[in-house]
Amino acid sequence: MSGGERAWWKEAVVYQIYPQSFNDSDGDGIGDIPGIVEKADYLDDLGVDVVWLNPVYDSPHADNGYDIRDYRAILDEFGTMADWERLIEELHDRDIRLIMDLVVNHTSDEHDWFLRSREDHARAGDGDLESGDRDDPDADYRDWYVWRDGDPDDPPNNWTGAFGGSAWTYDEDVGKWYLHLFLEKQPDLNWKNPEVREAVYDMMEWWLEEGIDGFRMDVINLLSKPQSLPDGDPDDEWVGHEHFIDGPRIDEYLTELTERTLDNYDTMNVGECVGATPEHARRYIDGGLDMIFHFEHVRLDWDEEDGWWRLRDWDLTEFKEVFTRWDREVADEGGWNATYLGNHDQPRIVSRFGDDDQHRVASAKTLATFLLTMRGTPYIMQGDEIGMTNYPFESMSEVIDPQTAGRVREGMAAGRIDSFDDVRHLVRARSRDNARTPVQWTDGEHAGFTEGDPWLPVNPDHASVNVADARADEDSVWHYYRDLIALRDDHAVIVYGDYDLLLPDHREIYAYTRTLDDETLLVVCNFDDGTPTFELPDGVAFEESELLIGTHGGEVAAAATATDREPTDAPAAPERFDLRPWESRVYLLS
Ligand code: GLC
Repeated sequence: MSGGERAWWKEAVVYQIYPQSFNDSDGDGIGDIPGIVEKADYLDDLGVDVVWLNPVYDSPHADNGYDIRDYRAILDEFGTMADWERLIEELHDRDIRLIMDLVVNHTSDEHDWFLRSREDHARAGDGDLESGDRDDPDADYRDWYVWRDGDPDDPPNNWTGAFGGSAWTYDEDVGKWYLHLFLEKQPDLNWKNPEVREAVYDMMEWWLEEGIDGFRMDVINLLSKPQSLPDGDPDDEWVGHEHFIDGPRIDEYLTELTERTLDNYDTMNVGECVGATPEHARRYIDGGLDMIFHFEHVRLDWDEEDGWWRLRDWDLTEFKEVFTRWDREVADEGGWNATYLGNHDQPRIVSRFGDDDQHRVASAKTLATFLLTMRGTPYIMQGDEIGMTNYPFESMSEVIDPQTAGRVREGMAAGRIDSFDDVRHLVRARSRDNARTPVQWTDGEHAGFTEGDPWLPVNPDHASVNVADARADEDSVWHYYRDLIALRDDHAVIVYGDYDLLLPDHREIYAYTRTLDDETLLVVCNFDDGTPTFELPDGVAFEESELLIGTHGGEVAAAATATDREPTDAPAAPERFDLRPWESRVYLLS
C-alpha cells in the first residue's frame, strides 16, 4: 500500500499554539492556559486533530520558554497544573490530542540541575562558590553540563551560539567555562552522562502518565557533542555546526530515548532537526522518531554567502525540488514527512511564500492547499488559518526575539549597520516575532486578545484580518482551511496517496498528483500573481473528474478571469485551464 502503514498521526492535522500569544483570559497581556480552554470549541470547529503546545513550563523566559527552570511546573503567567489538566481534558473530550514541547538539549541556568552543578564544582574545590543545602549530599551534578577548564580569556573552542556570540560563558564563581549552543542562560546538558538521560526519561514518563499524546522535540539532533570539542570552520554562520549537528552518538541517544519512553505509549513525535538532510531523517526515523522538521525550504530566502543578512530571491522550481526530494527520499523509502511552512521561529507564511498585499486571501488559500494536500502530516501555525501577516516593525523597541536582537546588536558592533533603517527590511522579513504577535480574534481593541497591554504589539491589520470577520465570511481563508481539513478526513488518498510532481520546470505552477489504488488527486496551485494556463501532461489517465475544492470556488477561470485571453468554454475539467492569480484547484480523478 502507498504511504506505508496507517497511523493516526499520519492522518492528523496539527495546530500549533504559542501560549503567550493565543488568548489572554486574565488581562495581564500574556496569553494563558485558561485562554486556550476558552477556545477549545474554536479548535474543534476548525477540525484540527492535534495541538502542539509550545513550552508552558516554569521558565525565566530568556528565550520565550525554551529555557526551562522546572520541567514539572507551569509558568505562573500561564496558569497552574490544574489549569493544564483542565486543558487536556477539554481537548481530549473533543478528540483533540495534545503534544508538548520537549526541550532537553539545554535547560535554563536557573534550573536546579544547573545550580547544583555549579555548587558541586565549588564543593569539589574547583571554585569559590558556597555549597547550598542538598537533599542528597552524595549526589554529584558536576558532569550534568558541559564544563571545561581554561583561561578566562580563551574559550575552549571557537563555536558560536545560534543567536550570536561565543557558545561558551566563563563562570567566575566556578572558575570554568560552560557550553551553550543558544543563549548564555541556556546551558547545554551533557548527554554523555547516563544520569542526565535517566532524569530526562523520568520527566518524559511523568508527562506521558499525565496523558499527553507525544512530543515535539526541540533541536533534538544537537544532543551529541564530540568529546574533543574540535574547532569549527570560522567562516560559517553557526561556527561548529559540523560537529554538533548530528554528533557522534546521536543515533544511540534517539533510539534510547524513544525506546525508554514513547514506545510504551500510543504517541506521536516530531523532531526539530536543524541542518538535516533526507539521509539524516531516514536514520532518525529508523531510530524511533515518527517524522522531523527540516529547514531546507525555510532557508531558500537566505543568501548563500551572507546568510541572514541578505534576502535571496528564490524560484518556485527550487521550492518544488526540496519538497519533491524529501518525498522521494523519505516518504517513498518508508519514512514520513512533517509538512510546515511556518511556525514560531519563522515569519508569517503569507508574507514569505505568498502575497500579503493584493492577493492575501487567494495566496493564503493556495498555501493552505499545498500544506494540506502534500504527503506528510501538516502543521498549521496559529493565525495562519486567517492569513495573518508579518508585522510592520518600525524600531528595535518592538522586537523581543533574542535571535533578531542578537544579530542586530552584533551587526551594529561590527560596523555592518548604523541604524534600524539599515535592517528594517530584514527585521520585517525575518524576525521570529512576526509569527508571535497576538492572534487577531476581533477588529476591536488589541484584536480581542487581551484586555490589558499585549506583551508584543498587535498587528494593525487586525481591523480587516481577524477571526470574527473570517468566520462570518464563507469565502474566507478560515472557511477554506476548515473545508480542506474536512476533505482530508474524507479522502484517504490525500493522506496516503503517492506523490508525483508534474511540470517540474514551471516557474508559476506547482502541480502534482497523489495516487492511491484507483483514485488520483490532482493538485494545481498557482504560486504567482500571473495568469498561467495549466495543461495536464500526458500520462495522467482518468475517466471522471470532480473539482473537490478551489481557492476561487467552483467556477472556471475563463469565465471570470481579468486577463485579456479569449474565454474558453472549458468546463471544470482538468486537461487545460487558465488560472487566476494565486488560484488553486484540487480535482479527484477516477
Ligand atoms: C528551537 C525553538 C526556538 C528556540 C531554540 C532554542 O529552534 O523552536 O524557538 O529558540 O530551539 O531552544
